[in-house]
Amino acid sequence: MTLVGKTQASEIAVHWREEEYVHPPAHFVAQAHLADPAVADRFREENFPECFREYADLLTWDQYWHTTLDTSHPPFWKWFVGGRLNACYNCVDRHLARDKNKAAFIFVPEAETEPIHTLTYQELYVRVNETAAVLRDFCGLKAGDRVTIHMPMILELPIAMLACARLGIVHSVVFGGFSGEAAGLRAADSGSRVMIYADAYHRNGKLIDHKASADIAVRTSAAEGQPIEKVLVWRRRDGEDLSNTPMVPGRDFYMEELLKSYRRARVAPVSLEAEHPLFLMYTSGTTGKPKGCQHRTGGYLAYVAGTARYYQDIHPEDVYWCMADIGWITGHSYIVYGPLALGATNVLYEGVPNYPDAGRPWRIAEQLDVNIFHTSPTAIRMLRKSGPDEPQKYRYRFKHMTTVGEPIEPETWRWYHDVVGKREAVIVDTWWQTETGGFLITTRPALDAMKAGSAGPPALGIFPVIYDEDGKEIPGGTGRAGNICIRNPWPGIMQTVWKDDDRFVRQYYSKYCKDPKSRDWRDWPYFAADGAVLAPDGYYRILGRVDDVINVAGHRLGTKEIESACLTVPQVAEAAVVPVVDEIKGRMPAIYVSLKPGVTDAKGAAEHVVAAVETMIGKIARPKSVHIVPDLPKTRSGKIMRRILAAISNRMDTGDVTTLANPEIVEQIRRQVQGEGPVELQEGPEDVRRFGEQE
Ligand code: WTA
Repeated sequence: MTLVGKTQASEIAVHWREEEYVHPPAHFVAQAHLADPAVADRFREENFPECFREYADLLTWDQYWHTTLDTSHPPFWKWFVGGRLNACYNCVDRHLARDKNKAAFIFVPEAETEPIHTLTYQELYVRVNETAAVLRDFCGLKAGDRVTIHMPMILELPIAMLACARLGIVHSVVFGGFSGEAAGLRAADSGSRVMIYADAYHRNGKLIDHKASADIAVRTSAAEGQPIEKVLVWRRRDGEDLSNTPMVPGRDFYMEELLKSYRRARVAPVSLEAEHPLFLMYTSGTTGKPKGCQHRTGGYLAYVAGTARYYQDIHPEDVYWCMADIGWITGHSYIVYGPLALGATNVLYEGVPNYPDAGRPWRIAEQLDVNIFHTSPTAIRMLRKSGPDEPQKYRYRFKHMTTVGEPIEPETWRWYHDVVGKREAVIVDTWWQTETGGFLITTRPALDAMKAGSAGPPALGIFPVIYDEDGKEIPGGTGRAGNICIRNPWPGIMQTVWKDDDRFVRQYYSKYCKDPKSRDWRDWPYFAADGAVLAPDGYYRILGRVDDVINVAGHRLGTKEIESACLTVPQVAEAAVVPVVDEIKGRMPAIYVSLKPGVTDAKGAAEHVVAAVETMIGKIARPKSVHIVPDLPKTRSGKIMRRILAAISNRMDTGDVTTLANPEIVEQIRRQVQGEGPVELQEGPEDVRRFGEQE
């Protein structure tokens, strides 16, 4: 079937072929947690919000709650009010009675010559307690304080997070691949006075000196007015100094040495209100400054436990491997909190997927007998490109596979299903966001058929709607796209933007709020900033961001953040960042800059721009191209027309440019970027077509 819609400013046309259904294999259905269609009845709208009791009952509460959902101060919802619990206790202590000898984590170092290390729940318990003692007694930290953790994928990262959770310290983990500057800015915003680092880690065959970032972070945070008093440094290898950056006496401390004074320490888990914040996770939005998404303890933990159980289908005997980084929300929810709350065995891999070759993930899966695998479309595309036949060389068997973070095109989906999954595994394509805590749209793996490229129906207890720009509902089956919103609150939704309640309301609720005075949740739909289309069968297809965010390899980067990095280069006069389609990473940033008068070294300036982006944000934001242009296309009021630059970078129609202040520049830039000859125009993906539309 071909769906064709009419193009308007707010309702973009969508053209695609509906894919065939693929049904879950019988052996999966027979063992699935969510195999009873009656569950859907329990989660019907008339049972909202009480239906979420089922998720909360997966946890151990110190005190049971009296009110499931408090809507008295919209959109600041409160979940499981009156309840008290500790997240670390739920993820560690409560499993000891039965499962103390079970592997909580199996750590796989990047180098295949380094042995795999297993950490049992008992060992995790001991290490988390000792670490918590350092935080409490050496650093003087207590419930409500913030700690910024800038670490790679090693065991000490979840240990540090759980130690914080044990005490009610709000952790803010910054992705290890972000620069020291990025970590410092986030530390300052969160008001951290302690940062936790690792000295070094292995990535793509190289040893990265990570401690070097700590010094930059501390400097950056101090410049923002937030002094960092202590930097705790884990050594990647016991007793060895792998970093060339000297320790600063009185500020930097090796954890290994501090822990000597806290051997055998036990720290009682602090009983916290369900609404006590568990962590902050900074993410990009429409303005330059990343926002700290603040997640609560009770609702979040209940939601990730429930969704990990039903959609990841994690059973006690499974070996679960989520190849994401803990530094992103996927790692928080579906490596650390969800799986550990269920007492799962988790694989933690330090390195990049195709090191030393594209067979690596499948060797790990074979050796550890992984049966649940979780990754992103970018990783799948990369592994497919570098080793299309590798999976069949290995004797692993997946029962279940997840894809998350970006839309997956049907061709990539089919390789995942046929080759990686050997046609024996179910796939869940899970759509959600840092803000949402857990999955919002996904098939129920044993109950719903899969459809390549479609995330699927809403998750249990989630009631989405697609609105046009005017707040009119776009019904299913029309082929018209709009803005996907969630009509109701759910336990995993963030509490607020750290220290910025106004931004929380403005960003997520103002657009479609029906009555700002109302205390009825029905008047407060959550605006996700993604475009989507609803097919006649009730499956949602996610089209990508509708704001200034570029999704690079499943990671959110704000174009405004990248532009401010460009503007730190003294030679640069103006900068504009737009998304450009990339075969592997989905989208990448393309940078357009004009130089200050008198600057002649364009090549040098371009190099400075790339270096600035890598320093201020990290290598992840490295642009696909930098174009030094004489001027940027502008409206008569002087606004940069990013939409036109996005069209040029993606060989799309630039549309009518005659009303610009400088229309002639468009053709000049086009020739510079696309070359002299005629080019075949592309239609371009929806998110790129909508890019800059809001300006
Ligand atoms: C995109 C990652 C299509 C989307 C969990 C969203 C997806 C942004 C999917 C959030 C999916 C995430 N299909 N697009 N299955 N999952 N996205 O905050 O644009 O890092 O808004 O959370 O990723 O990215 P974030």
